[in-house]
Order: sequence, then structure tokens, then C-alpha cells
Amino acid sequence: MGEYNREIQEAASILSRSTRASASSGAGFSAESGISTFRDPGGIWDQIDPMEAGTVEGLIRTIDKNSEKLVPLFLNMLDSFEQADPNPGHMALAALEELGILQIVITQNVDNLHQEAGTSNLVEVHGNLFQMVCMGCSRRKGVDRRSHIKAVREKLLAIKGFDLTSLLTLALNCDICGSVMRPDVVMFGEAVKDLNRAFQICLDTDTMLVLGTSGVVYPAASFPREAKKAGASVIVINPTENAFGDVSDVYIPMRSGEALPLIVAQIRKNID
Ligand code: APR
Repeated sequence: MGEYNREIQEAASILSRSTRASASSGAGFSAESGISTFRDPGGIWDQIDPMEAGTVEGLIRTIDKNSEKLVPLFLNMLDSFEQADPNPGHMALAALEELGILQIVITQNVDNLHQEAGTSNLVEVHGNLFQMVCMGCSRRKGVDRRSHIKAVREKLLAIKGFDLTSLLTLALNCDICGSVMRPDVVMFGEAVKDLNRAFQICLDTDTMLVLGTSGVVYPAASFPREAKKAGASVIVINPTENAFGDVSDVYIPMRSGEALPLIVAQIRKNID
């Protein structure tokens, strides 16, 4: 067995006794799907400043003033989001839901991979890139991840300049009111989604898996502490840091796509 066999077994025995387990996932959870994290070396915020691309006004200003910098990054992100598949970590969470252990996942990720792996109970506190929302009438519309990316890339490569007006042509238009539709994601400074539901989960859960997050961005960073305060066990899986050392019962310094399948296999052994 691996180097962290004891921690894997401990996590498996806590989860085997859980009936209301939850998970809180961050960008690291999708790293093994080929999607760049934000704060790892070489991550998105190493490539472009959050103030240049993480807020609505910053993004518009960067498009206006410096779109040559943005477009290559945007094309790279389109590629990684198009090529991404749910990884063994996503599949392991879906298996824990099947086993009746995991009740719900709260994710900061916007990549749609939890749904595509089969997780059905999901709270996307930072929204979803493949849910469009009309900026005129707030109508929402889901798009297929890969065909939407193909269409955006084709339009992007066809436009001449990368000024704001031409980049706006990449957006879908609402078929109710005709206004521009934007991805329904939460930018810095915008209200986080489903926060009451997320905090209710923290109060109800008996075990929270904390997966692939640096614990830097609030309010998501408070979920493990709220869960701990309410009496839950906290299991952190992160290969390089444990931002929740003050509340974690188990810390597994492994990639989530490696550790979670081992935990599920151990739980299945415990059941047999
Ligand atoms: N498995 C588990 N964890 C991993 C893996 C992996 N394979 N690879 C990296 N990590 C960890 C890193 O060690 C780091 O702690 O994932 C974490 C990623 O941290 P961030 O990039 O800060 O991502 P996240 O915590 O989700 O950021 C929160 O910041 O910019 C905003 O809205 C954005 O939702 C994002 C929020």
C-alpha cells in the first residue's frame, strides 16, 4: 500500500460511518483533468493579474487596452476546458454518492466536470461557465461544453480586431429579448451563489471532504471551519498544502484523483 496508507484508512473509516458527508472542491480538484489552477506556480493568476481578468471592469478594461495579452490566454483556456474530462477524483465522488455516503458537493469550480462525472447534488458557489445568463432579462440557458467552445473558438479566429465590440460578437444573444448572454460565473466583487444553502450544508454535514483548494477565497474558505464548529469531521486532500490544519482531522498530502479512489476502494473493502 502507499505512503499514506494510514491516512487513507482513517479517512475511509470516518466516511464508512458517515450518512451525511459533503465535499468542498476547488481548482486543484480539476488539475488532473488538465485545467490550470489559479495559485499554483504557473497558474492563471501567474499569467494574468486577477484585477485584469477577475473582475468585470478589469476584464473589459483589459479587452479595451490589452486584448493581445488576453486572447492567447483565452484560447489556451478554451483548449483545456474543451479537452478536459472528469478525472478519477470526480468519479470517486460520484461513487461515494452512489454508496449513499456523500450527500452533496459544494464546488468553487465552474468547469461542469462534477455534473459530467455523475454527481447529482451540487452547489456551484462560483457559477458555471456553460450556463449562460441574459444581461437583459436574466433568462438562463445551458450549453453543451464542447460544442459551445468550438463555436466560440471559430468566431474568435474569424473576427478581425480583438476590440470590445468584436469580442462581444462571441457572446450568445438571448432568444427572448435579444440582449447579450454571459457565462453565469461569479467574478471578484460579485455575489457568490447559493450561499445560504452552502452554509446549511456546513451545519448538517457529519464529514466534510476538502479537496483541492488553497483556502484563500471567502466565503468558500470558511466552509470547513463552519462544518467543524457544527461537529463534523474534516478530511483535507491536497498534495502541497493544508490550509485547514486548524480544523482537519485527517490530512492526505496526495493528489485528489489518486487519494479518493483509494479511499473508495477501502470503504468497499470495509463493507464486504
Ligand atoms: N489534487 C488536489 N489538490 C491539488 C491538486 C491535485 N491534483 N493540484 C493542486 N492542488 C491544490 C493546490 O495545492 C492548491 O492548494 O489545489 C489548490 C488550488 O488553489 P487555487 O488555485 O487557489 O484554487 P481555489 O482554492 O479553488 O481558488 C478559489 O479563487 O480565483 C478564485 O474564483 C476563483 O474559485 C477560485 C477561487
